Amino acid sequence: MANVKLTSEGKDFEYPVLSGSVGPDVVDIRKLYGQTGLFTFDPGFTSTASCESALTYIDGDEGILLHRGYPIGQLAEHSSFMEVSYLLLNGELPSQDELGQFEYTISRHTMLHEQLATFYRGFRRDAHPMAIMCGVVGALSAFYHDSTDISDPMQRKIASHRLIAKMPTIAAMAYKYSVGQPFMYPRNDLSYTGNFLRMTFGVPAEEYEVIPEVEKALDRIFILHADHEQNASTSTVRLAGSSGANPFACIAAGIACLWGPAHGGANEAALNMLREIGTPDRIKHYIERAKDKNDPFRLMGFGHRVYKNYDPRATVMQQTVRDVFKALKVTDPVFETALQLEEIALSDPYFAEKKLFPNVDFYSGIILSAIGFPTTMFTALFALARTVGWVAQWNEMISDPGQKIGRPRQLYTGPTQREYVPVAQR
Ligand code: CMC
Repeated sequence: MANVKLTSEGKDFEYPVLSGSVGPDVVDIRKLYGQTGLFTFDPGFTSTASCESALTYIDGDEGILLHRGYPIGQLAEHSSFMEVSYLLLNGELPSQDELGQFEYTISRHTMLHEQLATFYRGFRRDAHPMAIMCGVVGALSAFYHDSTDISDPMQRKIASHRLIAKMPTIAAMAYKYSVGQPFMYPRNDLSYTGNFLRMTFGVPAEEYEVIPEVEKALDRIFILHADHEQNASTSTVRLAGSSGANPFACIAAGIACLWGPAHGGANEAALNMLREIGTPDRIKHYIERAKDKNDPFRLMGFGHRVYKNYDPRATVMQQTVRDVFKALKVTDPVFETALQLEEIALSDPYFAEKKLFPNVDFYSGIILSAIGFPTTMFTALFALARTVGWVAQWNEMISDPGQKIGRPRQLYTGPTQREYVPVAQR
């Protein structure tokens, strides 16, 4: 194994280089502070691996995303969200029996404690669904005491199943509350995604028919969002969990982080931006704004911390727009604007030099809007799908014997020690 040498104040120190199964090697600096009295400084973690993980691998230069080794394109085409969830949680694809058992278990946890319905009524009707999600998911720990002991693997498993199963119910109820319609109870004879569609768009007054093409498209969107390595919300879940907090509280923390427009909130922001641009003739103006250093405007749904190539999820998303339009016999002029915006941006030297490509959020909003979701629900759907990734990463961390509380240090630039002055003398 190679070592990296560091010289500080005339003394040499050596740090081991660790290799994963694929991807850049890492310098193990765990002994750095003890030996040298130095910290590393890496705001935004642009050069820091925060943990060891066997779940998801991204090669940002090549535009590759693998879950447990399987390429995202293959999973999106051939798999289902339930199967990918099993894969992320357990490490291997399930047999037919294992998949059936897993689907059965998840469907038996979809109902919410009835008292949680009254909890919703405390929110304003115009509350953002993500505000409701943060509150309700955090509140689950007050309702499911029997699965909050994180030292018990069985309780961790039950909490994981509960979170994955209840998230569609929670998100659908947030929507129903905003439109003033009755909450719909889950139905176990429907698929995970079909059940979510019915709980969102069905009403008790009549039967709801799930359109198979829409169900498939939404299921695929869930697959595309299921996990993404150590992104901001996943790192938030891990950091919250590192203190021993219960899983419901940790996932609520992840939801809060996901909400921001630089992360999961970008899908809502991207469609709002496309609608604001309106027609292709206005694209140039927005491209110029995105390039202007003095203008805070950014092309939403463009750029990524890790991908310096086309986000493989955006490729699948673009095709899915066409599938959904065809199935629903609809179209949306905003899709044409998006395609032209992408073409113009990709041929512009600014975007080429900075390696800015469409990300997963660029096209997803067009699909969700065609299905009937309001823009405010987009990030809630991202949270629903990412829950399995958060839960799998949290479980991986808790099961790791080397796990420690996450406690970064800082470069302090404030005042040094000084004497307190009583208010009358200031
Ligand atoms: N439009 C215009 N310029 C951009 C954009 C953009 N969307 N993204 C990055 N840049 C520029 C940025 O101004 C900077 O230029 P300079 O080097 O001259 O200062 C350079 O590219 C690097 O940007 P950065 O902000 O330092 O890069 P980052 O890795 O910290 O940020 C990002 C990544 C995703 C936050 C950023 O690209 C962004 O804000 N994109 C728009 C929001 C978005 O679509 N987010 C969804 C990400 S994918 C889904 C998810 O993970 O949640």
